Amino acid sequence: MRQLIAGNWKMNGLGQAAFAEIEALRAGLAADPPHADVLVCPPATLIARAHWAAKGAFPLGGQDCHAQASGAFTGDVSAEMLKDAGATWVIVGHSERRQYHHESDADVAAKARAAWRAGLTAIVCIGETERERMDGHTLDVVSRQLGASVPDGATPQNTVIAYEPIWAIGTGKTPTSAEIAEVHAHIRKIVGAGTRILYGGSVKPSNAKEILGLADVDGALVGGASLKAQDFLALIAAAAERS
Ligand code: 13P
Repeated sequence: MRQLIAGNWKMNGLGQAAFAEIEALRAGLAADPPHADVLVCPPATLIARAHWAAKGAFPLGGQDCHAQASGAFTGDVSAEMLKDAGATWVIVGHSERRQYHHESDADVAAKARAAWRAGLTAIVCIGETERERMDGHTLDVVSRQLGASVPDGATPQNTVIAYEPIWAIGTGKTPTSAEIAEVHAHIRKIVGAGTRILYGGSVKPSNAKEILGLADVDGALVGGASLKAQDFLALIAAAAERS
């Protein structure tokens, strides 16, 4: 399957500078059409403008959504609102949401269902802590999170899995290729052949080719290296050519 290179801007990006990065990304992709599908998940405040600036060259996604469609939930954004702003994807269960907003696997599953209800594709994030890896529990943790965070009814069309070891996020540390391949093969056994499995955690232009060349790695979820269009384009160019 075609790989997916998804940028998660996290809480970064303001007006004109963000607009310029979207424009540069669109121009770069037009000049050198990628082997991979591309997705940008900016902050919710930028989705409508980014959607306009992308001009259909790539889709936009949210970084989180509330489980309800509307209501008295001050400060929250629903999947329907993301869709209304121009998004077609949403990340749910990112470890930063699980950590700082105490989201449980059940919360994440409810958000994935909300994404589907709104017609969005959900990127469900899972991954172990450094302690869990050191104690040899990585595969158990990943199995448990998959079982509890991905609702019944998931299909390759409505759901993508992102494996993001928490200790590799924003640290410059990555698992070895063998470690990534082991976890992805394990996830593959659980989710089946058609579902995309992304790797995330310190993916950069310098290591992208090796990581994206691994079996069962169907793309990347990229934080820091997605913020500058030139870095992100270099990383997209490293995608493996798969049909
Ligand atoms: P970094 O690429 O900055 O490590 O972030 C990874 C991530 O959390 C993507 O969702």
